[in-house]
Amino acid sequence: MGNGIAQVAARAGFNVVMRDVSEDFLARGLKAIDKSLQRDVDKERLATDEKQAILGRIRTTTDLADLRDAFIVVEAVTESFAVKSEVFKTLDELAGEAAILASNTSSISITRLGAVTKRPEQVIGMHFMNPVPVMKLVEIIRGAATTDETYQKVHALTEKLEKIPLECNDSPGFISNRVLMPMINEAIFALYEGVASRESIDGIMKLGMNHPMGPLTLADFIGLDVCLAIMNVLHDGFSDSKYRPCPLLKRYVDAGWLGRKSGRGFYEY
Ligand code: 3HC
Repeated sequence: MGNGIAQVAARAGFNVVMRDVSEDFLARGLKAIDKSLQRDVDKERLATDEKQAILGRIRTTTDLADLRDAFIVVEAVTESFAVKSEVFKTLDELAGEAAILASNTSSISITRLGAVTKRPEQVIGMHFMNPVPVMKLVEIIRGAATTDETYQKVHALTEKLEKIPLECNDSPGFISNRVLMPMINEAIFALYEGVASRESIDGIMKLGMNHPMGPLTLADFIGLDVCLAIMNVLHDGFSDSKYRPCPLLKRYVDAGWLGRKSGRGFYEY
């Protein structure tokens, strides 16, 4: 999702530093941005020189220290508290005093992430939706220590990105994934129990509920590892068995069938 966030920020006129762990991932990110912008060029919603200007505002790096001058850092690393907290500790050391540290986490506690830094009042959740260039929502999550000033700045920034900010308190899965993920997990249980085929489950939800994608297609789109990580956060956070991840979801993740990104999930790509 990081490349989508970089794209909307650069499109809104900001200079962006996009950081990843390897040049390969950065090249893949830039390719995705190029492809996404090209759709708009092809549809005559963006001029070719505007596309080039947007790409020109994105600088890439593998070095976290290159983020030191940013007024805001939006973290979008693996959905793991251990990984995210290390990144937050490092960012806290190197970023300017006034910088806001935002996380694009889909379910991890903003309060806990804030607590690993010396600036928890400037730590906030900015939860973008996939595909970032298309989806209007950014769920904004306040941690226990997040100040109003930080919230207002991030709210204004989100509007500059031409997204709609909606506020939510820090609670496992926030609103989006607390509601979405149990639906996806239930669809996986229905498949696991042989209640219906993947095509039937998806077709019923698409045609009957007017969802743009069926839940199994959506799970593949989000990434099955991400879905499992979110179910585990809900399960641990609420200590309620209704959030237990379906064994079939665990089995697919163990097999490396992570959905669209790995070429196989509930469907083959
Ligand atoms: N970049 C730019 N534009 C894109 C794009 C991308 N990556 N992907 C799709 N689009 C644009 C297309 O150009 C098209 O634009 P137009 O209608 O203005 O011409 C429009 O989106 C529709 O695309 P398509 O016609 O190719 O295909 P669909 O009509 O099937 O739409 C979809 C694709 C927008 C992905 C739609 O299927 C959808 O909305 N799916 C559900 C997405 C969703 O639920 N996202 C949230 C996931 S949960 C999440 O992200 C949270 C996390 O924490 C788990």
